[in-house]
Amino acid sequence: MIMNISNDTILQKGFVDIEIDARLDLFSEIELLKKNKHAIILAHYYQEPDIQDVADYIGDSLGLAQKAAETNASIIVFAGVHFMAETAKILNPNKKVLLPDLKAGCSLADSAPTAAFKQFKEKNPDHLVVSYVNCSAEIKALSDIICTSGNAEKIIESIPKNQPIIFAPDKNLGAYLIKKTGREMLLWNGACMVHEIFSLEKIIKLKIRHPKVKLIAHPECEEAILRIADFIGSTTQLLKFSITDTAQEYIVATETGILHQMQQDSPKKTFIPAPPTNNCACNDCPHMKLNTLEKLYLCMQYETPEIIMDENLRIAAKKPMDRMLEISRAAGLLG
Ligand code: 13P
Ligand code: SF4
Repeated sequence: MIMNISNDTILQKGFVDIEIDARLDLFSEIELLKKNKHAIILAHYYQEPDIQDVADYIGDSLGLAQKAAETNASIIVFAGVHFMAETAKILNPNKKVLLPDLKAGCSLADSAPTAAFKQFKEKNPDHLVVSYVNCSAEIKALSDIICTSGNAEKIIESIPKNQPIIFAPDKNLGAYLIKKTGREMLLWNGACMVHEIFSLEKIIKLKIRHPKVKLIAHPECEEAILRIADFIGSTTQLLKFSITDTAQEYIVATETGILHQMQQDSPKKTFIPAPPTNNCACNDCPHMKLNTLEKLYLCMQYETPEIIMDENLRIAAKKPMDRMLEISRAAGLLG
């Protein structure tokens, strides 16, 4: 029997009042719920290993957006952060989109508040706005094209050379794209708390101690880290590189969740999480890690918390998403 629990209750209290029978095998219970409810679980690589293991699809933001656009499931359970679940809702107005913990936000998305960004855009009216998908639906609605780390270069290259561009919200990805494409862009001053934590000094020491190690890094990292990286790419691109490349040891400069798939795909290789500046676990994204297998199970059971979006906002946010998918399709970037 399913109780009626509202988004508001879950937002205020979470699932704290609901006990899960300790004898339940959550893996098989989740499989059953998927079947009975015609639900699909889309998970980002930064989710905890147990969640990745029950997901129907694990991917980077581009792959996840594509899957969300294509699925015929009735319910999309998004094991990721809020802007990712919002992206799925933007593409699927008639489907129920669930997020195991509604508080799973993103420091990068939070670094672009709507009112301030609107002002910035208004001060530069001749600029085309390209926004990284790690932003709110409101910022998407103010943008002309969305990009992800997997297609950003192609998106920038698709824009006529004489067209001035605002790139938001990630200044590190923006700076990397300026270097790669040779395009001048006006950058919004935002960043991801996880990708700014890596210690250059400690990475260099690791490289000295492991002379054959390769550094692979996400473009959200700071320039100093990217400058010494052997390979730079989205999470999917980093994973593919770790499979096909011939090295046996890698320092991985992105959130630690990706190591689970890397280790599964290449069991004989060694993957070392890039060390952070402090002795903390700060290269675990605290937002991504709010989702747990228990919350995933409960959110499927009670079909809440659900992403609810104003229809006008959704339509405005969908336009730049569609443009991104079109350009990616034409560039052969969609699987
Ligand atoms: P990708 O998986 O698209 O590379 O994005 C990384 C990220 O920071 C998501 O929050
Ligand atoms: Fe946001 Fe960074 Fe966490 Fe990704 S890793 S969700 S960009 S805070």
